[in-house]
Amino acid sequence: MRTRRSLWIVLAVVIAMAMMARAQETKKEIKHVPVKPTSSASGQEMYKSYCAVCHGADGKGNGPAVDALKVPPPDLTTLAEKNGGKYPALTVSAVIRGEEVLAAHGSKDMPIWGNLFWSMSGGHEAEVQQRVANLNKYIESLQKK
Ligand code: HEC
Repeated sequence: MRTRRSLWIVLAVVIAMAMMARAQETKKEIKHVPVKPTSSASGQEMYKSYCAVCHGADGKGNGPAVDALKVPPPDLTTLAEKNGGKYPALTVSAVIRGEEVLAAHGSKDMPIWGNLFWSMSGGHEAEVQQRVANLNKYIESLQKK
């Protein structure tokens, strides 16, 4: 129960940062707000709810929470381009799930969604996989041509 609660708090913090940025507050204060549940079937809905706050609605890394981050979120529309034209689906899954340690930047600013999706689904691995796969597909669709 304990771990589950702290996971929700992490996600709540992310949402709160977005709200602050929108309110144009100068003081960076973290408020805890409840998380919006989303459909695991819609990559777009999940992206808008959980990722756009940092990575931007268009994926280019200019979300409203950017000012509160130590490391700027990478442009997600150039993942294929940076990988020799091939969209790196496996890496993206691993990053979302938190299996890929982004050690190069040493940042903890990118939340570990695998655990959160796990809590959200009540521990159903199939649903976690569906969430990650649909998010992955959505991000792939954002790749610049
Ligand atoms: C709190 C802000 C924040 C949120 C919310 C967030 N990210 Fe990130 N993300 C980051 C940061 C910062 C990095 C870069 C971390 C680093 O390099 O150390 C990153 C890195 C990534 C990367 C690696 C990109 C690369 O160049 O290898 C992917 C993929 C990614 N995020 C996907 C997502 C997805 C999908 C979501 C929503 C489920 C999400 N992010 C939500 C901040 C965020």
